[in-house]
Amino acid sequence: MYTIKTLNSIAAAGLARLPAAQFAVDNNADAPAGILVRSAKMHEMPLPDSLLAIGRAGAGVNNIPVDACSEKGIVVFNTPGANAGAVAELTIGGLVLASRNVAPAIRWADALKGQGDAVPGMVEKGKGQFVGPELRGKKLGVVGLGAIGVKVANMALHLGMQVYGYDPYISVEAAWNLSGEVIHCAQLGEILSQCDYITLHLPVNASTKGFLNASALASCKQGVRVLNFARGELVDNEALLAALAAGKVAAYVTDFPCEALLDQPGVTCIPHLGASTPESEENCAVMAADELADYLLNGNITNSVNLPAVTQARAGDKRICVIHKNEPGLIAGITAVTTGAALNIENMVNKSRGNMAYTMLDATGALPADLQAQLEAIPGVIRVRIL
Ligand SMILES: NC(=O)c1ccc[n+]([C@@H]2O[C@H](COP(=O)([O-])OP(=O)(O)OC[C@H]3O[C@@H](n4cnc5c(N)ncnc54)[C@H](O)[C@@H]3O)[C@@H](O)[C@H]2O)c1
Repeated sequence: MYTIKTLNSIAAAGLARLPAAQFAVDNNADAPAGILVRSAKMHEMPLPDSLLAIGRAGAGVNNIPVDACSEKGIVVFNTPGANAGAVAELTIGGLVLASRNVAPAIRWADALKGQGDAVPGMVEKGKGQFVGPELRGKKLGVVGLGAIGVKVANMALHLGMQVYGYDPYISVEAAWNLSGEVIHCAQLGEILSQCDYITLHLPVNASTKGFLNASALASCKQGVRVLNFARGELVDNEALLAALAAGKVAAYVTDFPCEALLDQPGVTCIPHLGASTPESEENCAVMAADELADYLLNGNITNSVNLPAVTQARAGDKRICVIHKNEPGLIAGITAVTTGAALNIENMVNKSRGNMAYTMLDATGALPADLQAQLEAIPGVIRVRIL
């Protein structure tokens, strides 16, 4: 029986993934085997020796002391892509907003309040200022084809758009999920020069900060419409406002308002609603609980931020899971112990990530009572579990 402590309220659908026969959810537990957390700050919290894994229902892990967890052999999981559907849907909404001047038109219509019976006539007379193009047949450039970008690209095809994709680091999984109708661009320039709409779905980091800057905007088509549901820092706001004023950019829809962008002509600011759906929260909770349960019960690691991904179907009598430093001689040390115990290794996998490594063995034979202690005594071994 594994005790799971929740540090925030976790969607019921997630907790339901932890069968009562194997898991006890106790929010006051002092010695939990697993923790489920959303945004609670864990940096000042003690990490009990009982703690084997932390499941973060969400993507960012800056509320978790990941390095300290690694040192203690605690696997930290997150839930990348769990909110991809929500962000992709709002991005599609953003395409319509960008095209049909919906936000300023609504503001204009609201301002007619008090005009009484004249309102319908004023609407018919004034609506012409908000005319905007349809999406069908237009070219959409998707930059970043990960969990969200792939969904946006595939959905936009169904709107009758011609979709161009750019992602020099696309994962095999994303490539499998991407429709073959999406036109592959090897260079960003192909997107910038051809597309009527450009949507950003890449992470912000040192090399992508200011990704859409003055020079990139200068390469764009006249009247391009830009969507940013990824991160505000990807766009150089000053350059973007200048491009809007010059007519180079016709509209900018962003999920990341800041003072400079508010109430600017051509800019639609959405208050970071991309992932704000009940389904998103549920998906995160389900994914975090599944990852935690699979690790506690089977030793499998999926979507960890501090240990490598390792999943293998069970074979043999027992599974031996060893978290250790990524140093020479460790695997030989582990197999020397299993050989000394006359165990037959049915399957073995070893993977590393930075200075951490994980070895998982499925073994057949009678396990000596001190097997765990023998493995723990190997220098560089951090944690051993026998399942
Ligand atoms: N608006 C919101 O509420 C919200 C919610 C979730 C995620 N996001 C943001 O959306 C973005 C994408 O999230 P995701 O879950 O799809 O991430 P992901 O990791 O699945 O995909 C990101 C993709 O960007 C690609 N990429 C990296 N550098 C690139 C570059 N220089 N040029 C082109 N492609 C590049 C990667 O190869 C990867 O395929 C992230 O910035 C994330 O922070 C926003």
